[in-house]
Amino acid sequence: MSFLKRRNFLKLSGLSMLPAVLPLSAAKAATSLKPLANIKNQTVSFTDDGVFYEPAEYLSKLQEINASSPIEMDFYGGGGAVAKLCEKFADLTGKPASIYMPTGTMANQLAISVLAGENTKIFVQETSHIYRDEGDAAQSVFNKRLIPVATGEAYFTLDQLKEAIDYHNKGEVFKSGIGTVAIENPVRRCDGKYVPLEEIKKISAWCRENGYKLHMDGARVFLAMAVNGVSLKEYASYFDTVYISLYKYLGAAGGAVLCGDKETIGHMEHLIKIHGGTTFSNWSNAAMALHTLDGLEERLKQANTKADELFKNLNKMPGIKISAIPGGSNIFNIEITGTHTKIFNKVLQDKYQIVTHARNGVFQIRVNETLLRQSNSVIEKAFADALKTAKA
Ligand SMILES: Cc1ncc(COP(=O)(O)O)c(C=O)c1O
Repeated sequence: MSFLKRRNFLKLSGLSMLPAVLPLSAAKAATSLKPLANIKNQTVSFTDDGVFYEPAEYLSKLQEINASSPIEMDFYGGGGAVAKLCEKFADLTGKPASIYMPTGTMANQLAISVLAGENTKIFVQETSHIYRDEGDAAQSVFNKRLIPVATGEAYFTLDQLKEAIDYHNKGEVFKSGIGTVAIENPVRRCDGKYVPLEEIKKISAWCRENGYKLHMDGARVFLAMAVNGVSLKEYASYFDTVYISLYKYLGAAGGAVLCGDKETIGHMEHLIKIHGGTTFSNWSNAAMALHTLDGLEERLKQANTKADELFKNLNKMPGIKISAIPGGSNIFNIEITGTHTKIFNKVLQDKYQIVTHARNGVFQIRVNETLLRQSNSVIEKAFADALKTAKA
């Protein structure tokens, strides 16, 4: 929200009176708060995509962030830490505009429907969050028809997309337009596999030639970038809009950012409001995400290099087998045999602060920046101890 708009809002709503009526004792207490003890969490979690904070830890982290550089409030998603975060993402994506969104679902739905305009058809991966996990919002709220492509697969090729579009273009008597093509990258329902850049390039060039808009659900795009080395700017250059989650690996309690051109993003403030998504204060999410973003790409790369070495050594232990998923990002398959998995988990968690959620058969572990919290030799020792203690 612009400064002018903010001043008008304060005047119209009477909120400008608030500081004057705050009791002096409350104001004093607010400035004399003692920082919480800095909680140093050494947990290595193989079950998440990033750092997840417990409430006390979250508060402690925010205090630490605030102490090094005071966090500025936003006002209904404008100004302060939120503006800084949006600028940062505009810079990282190379897009001229960006906006804070309360959820990724809203970012996806508003992006695909605004890009589509009057056109009703939107092509998506059958495995995508937009198609499978957004409560049919496109159909029930936005009057759009989602058309799934490449059932069960991580991504569709340009040929598959062309075939699906052709089928609808040629086979329907009463035509309705084709608006947007959406690509999730990497794909949550497909073990974090990412879409090959070459395919994205081909799809993007063809969509631009044919006037179809492209949206990327990049909720976890940093996890793919850390593996394939593609920059966010490069990814974003092939799309009209890009959404990134603030809580999958950026530490925030929720939220998302949507980036795109000025016109598309210009529609969003009003649309967020009328769909009930305009939240008063978002600075805590923004400050946390901004803080985590700093150096994130480097830390994720370090974690991947560390994981390579660690998994090589763990694979030498009898009863443990870890294998990479072809085309995958941070998720690995693992099988532990001859072991009571409940005891295995307990030893790792209680003695070593390592979280695995091991179970019988093949299960999955995730590499994230918490891997940097303990040395490989300590983690290897912990696994050896857990395997021995939990031997069936
Ligand atoms: C790939 C993907 N896109 C979008 C979303 C939606 O994010 P939110 O929970 O912020 O609505 C998720 C959440 O799990 C997701 O995994």
